[in-house]
Amino acid sequence: MPKSASIEDEITQAAIERLEQGADGRLRDIMISLTRHLHGFIREIEPTEEEWLAAIRFLTETGKKCDENRQEFILLSDTLGASMLIDAINNRKPSGATESSVLGPFYREGAPDYENGADLAEGETSGERVLVSGKVIDLDGAPIAGAVLDIWQTAPDAIYAAQDTSGTSFNLCGRLTTGDDGRYWFRTRKPVSYTVPGDGPVGAMLKAAGRHNWRPAHIHFMLSADGYETLVTQLFTDDDPYLGTDAVFGVKDSLVVHYDKADEGLRLDHDFVMTAAA
Ligand SMILES: [Fe+2]
Repeated sequence: MPKSASIEDEITQAAIERLEQGADGRLRDIMISLTRHLHGFIREIEPTEEEWLAAIRFLTETGKKCDENRQEFILLSDTLGASMLIDAINNRKPSGATESSVLGPFYREGAPDYENGADLAEGETSGERVLVSGKVIDLDGAPIAGAVLDIWQTAPDAIYAAQDTSGTSFNLCGRLTTGDDGRYWFRTRKPVSYTVPGDGPVGAMLKAAGRHNWRPAHIHFMLSADGYETLVTQLFTDDDPYLGTDAVFGVKDSLVVHYDKADEGLRLDHDFVMTAAA
């Protein structure tokens, strides 16, 4: 049967007009745009009713998979590249500033405070030893004293403390504070590549799309200092096989770092450049 263009257009028009008569402001703009894009997507794909039900089932399962330790919707947003686009739009930085990357699902608030020089991997018996050091500076290169670095990364077994279901582990997590010279330094083990959870609906979606669920090895940092924009970023290991195909699109060239050989293990030097708060 030939499609009835007028009825199809009228449905979209009616849905938008209903919203135009409702609340003012940001929500109204968002809902109108969402409706327009959703209807445009449906018009482009022309899903069968079975396909539409499958999509609803997928979102239902995604919701059911979420609990205090698992956030399947964040994973969905990450693996569709939406999280990195939101990050890019909200963290436009001047040239010379350290670029941002996604927070990810494994940040656990309340990590212990350490003195500079501490070993965040104390008790770990495997993995390559690393000394990480550098300065936190402003756009003019001046040191930022009292900057707090909140750090988290995988253990050598590719697991984050936040994945420990007891909810209390802070293994390979810690907070450091820079001194007057802006310097920070700590010991750890080299991070390893890991897979984002593949046992839920998002994993099934990746598999069906012919994608893997690996992330290249990285250390997460959240930097905060009075008078400066909070900086959430990651430093990626330059010899990782998944650098070019990160499952969540988090890699930026400026965040790829090299670990040098040192007397005891490896050494990573990296300065972070923060921007003044608006
Ligand atoms: Fe991560």
